Amino acid sequence: MPHHDSPTPSSSSPHDADWWRQAVIYQIYPRSFADSDGDGLGDIPGVTSRLPYLADLGVDAVWLSPFYPSQLADGGYDVADYRDVDPRLGTLDDFDEMVATAHRLGLKIMVDIVPNHSSDQHVWFQEALRAAPGAAARERYVFRDGRGDDGELPPTDWPSSFGGPAWTRVADGQWYLHLYAPQQPDFNWDNPEVREDFHDTLRFWSDRGVAGFRVDVAHGLAKDLRAPLRDLGDQQSYQPDALPVDGSHPLWDRDAVHEIYRGWRQVFNTYDPPRFAVAEAWVGTSRRMAYASADGLGQAFNFDFLGARLDADEMRATIETALADARDVGATSTWVLSNHDVVRHVSRYALPGDHRKRDVEAWLLTDGREPAPDLAAGERKARAAALLMLALPGSAYVYQGEELGLPEVADLDRADLQDPMWVRSGGRVKGRDGCRVPLPWTTEGTSFGFGSGGSWLPQPSGWGRYAAEAQSGDAGSFLELYREALRLRRTLVADEALAWAGSQEPAPQGLLHFERAGGWRTASNLSDEPVRLPQGEVLLASAPLTGDTLPPWTTVWLRTGAASVSRSGR
Ligand code: NOJ
Repeated sequence: MPHHDSPTPSSSSPHDADWWRQAVIYQIYPRSFADSDGDGLGDIPGVTSRLPYLADLGVDAVWLSPFYPSQLADGGYDVADYRDVDPRLGTLDDFDEMVATAHRLGLKIMVDIVPNHSSDQHVWFQEALRAAPGAAARERYVFRDGRGDDGELPPTDWPSSFGGPAWTRVADGQWYLHLYAPQQPDFNWDNPEVREDFHDTLRFWSDRGVAGFRVDVAHGLAKDLRAPLRDLGDQQSYQPDALPVDGSHPLWDRDAVHEIYRGWRQVFNTYDPPRFAVAEAWVGTSRRMAYASADGLGQAFNFDFLGARLDADEMRATIETALADARDVGATSTWVLSNHDVVRHVSRYALPGDHRKRDVEAWLLTDGREPAPDLAAGERKARAAALLMLALPGSAYVYQGEELGLPEVADLDRADLQDPMWVRSGGRVKGRDGCRVPLPWTTEGTSFGFGSGGSWLPQPSGWGRYAAEAQSGDAGSFLELYREALRLRRTLVADEALAWAGSQEPAPQGLLHFERAGGWRTASNLSDEPVRLPQGEVLLASAPLTGDTLPPWTTVWLRTGAASVSRSGR
C-alpha cells in the first residue's frame, strides 16, 4: 500500500485556533509505547522514534499520559514533579526534541495534567509531612484531625476510588485526604498557592510548544472542605449519573470547579494559538459540557459513547445527546472507544451480550476465560465501531494499539499486576494492566520491537501477529483500515453538521445511517442480519461487501455527491 511516502502534514495551519474541533488525537501511554534504551520501560526518545509512524497513520495530535517523575504508585498519575521528565523516560531536552520532531511532521503534542493530587514524593508533600499540624505547608493538601477519643478514626467516611478509606494517618496523628491511592495526596484548591502553581505548570509546558492538555479527574478539584466536613452516608458509591445535578456533592462536580478552569482559560488565551484542554470528568451527561465551555477547558471526554452497547438505537441516542450538548456550549463532542483505564474494546465486543463495566471486571477475574470471548466477532465489531467513530463530527481519541486491533491481555499473572486497584480492592478488581501491555512493533525479536530489553509487563507469546510490521501493507488489516479512514477523513470532513438519513421512512432495525456535509454518508449495520446497502460510491468499508448488501456488523463510508447538509444538523 502506498502509505510510506512523506507524511501528510496536518491540515490545520500552526496558528489555527480551532485545530482541535475535529481532530484525531492519539493517546500514548509512554511506558508502554516504545523503549529506546532497553530498560523495559517505554520512554520519550522511543516516542520520538515512532512519530513518523503516527504522522503516517494520519493523526493530528498526540496526547501523552504522564511521563513526569513518579514512583509509579498509579502508573504515573502520581506526579512528584510537574515540570520535569522521569529520568527513566528521558530528559527535558528529549522532550524538546520530541516536540520539534512532531512539529516538523505536522503533529501537535498534548500532555496530561494531574491537578487533583500529587505524589507523596512531591516536595510540597514531603514538606507538609515535616511540618506541624496547622502549618502553612500542610494547607496545600487536606490534613485534618481524626474522630474518636484519640483521633484514631478517619475524619469522614469518604472512600478512596481504589478501595479502602480516603484518609491515611501520619506520625503526629493527623490524617490526609487521598481520593485515590495513599501515595496520591489531594491538593487543597482553596489555597491560592496551589492555583498559582498550576498556572505556572500550564505556562511551563505551553512555552515548550505543547498545544493542549488532558485534565485528569477534572471534576474533583473543588471540594467542600469547610468544617465540619460532611460524611457521604448513602452517597458513598460513585456513579456519575447519580451525582446531584445541583453540584451539591461534597467532593465531585461542584460548581466552584469551573472558576478554576476560567483561570486556566485566561492562561491558555495568552498563547497564539490559544492552548486547549480536554476534561476527564466522570459526571452525569447533563453536567459534562460545563467543562467544555469556551471560558473553560474547551472539550470534555464523552464516556457515554465508550459505555454504550453497540446497538443502533443506543448509539444513535448517545450521539444525538453528545452533539446537542456540545453545540449548546459552542464546543465539539469527543468520541472515545478505549483508553488506559478500560478493557480494550476488541475484547469488550468479543464478549456475549451486554458487557458493561462490572461484567467486564468479573470476566478479568477469570483471566478472560469465562465467558469465552469470540475474538473474530470482537474484531469485526471494533472495525465497524472505528469507522462509525471516525465519521462523526468532533474529535476522536484513539488509544495506542487500537489501530492494531489489540485485545485486552486478560490473563496477566497476578504476580505481574501493577495497578493499585488490584491490591487496594483486596483482589476483587484485577485492574487496568491488561490494556497497558507494551505495543508490538515487529513480528519477532525481543519484546516484538518494543525495545531491546524485554517489557515491564509481559507480552503474550502471539503478540507478533498484531505488530505494526505485520499489518503494514496488508489491505485487510486494522492498521490499513485506520490509515485509510484517517486519510479520507482529511479530505471529507467539512463542517460540524450531521444529518440522520432516512428520517422519512423508518431505518431498518440495526442500521445507523447519517450524512456529513461535503457529500458523504456513513451506514453502520449493527445487527446480525444483512441490510440493503444505501446508495453511493463506496469509499471504505470495515468488512468486505458483496453485491448491494451491507453485511452484519459492518460500517461503510459512501460518497453521495449531494449538497451540504444543513448547519443545524437536524
Ligand atoms: C484517571 C486516570 O486516567 C487514571 O489512570 C488514574 O488512576 C486516575 N485518574 C487518578 O489519577
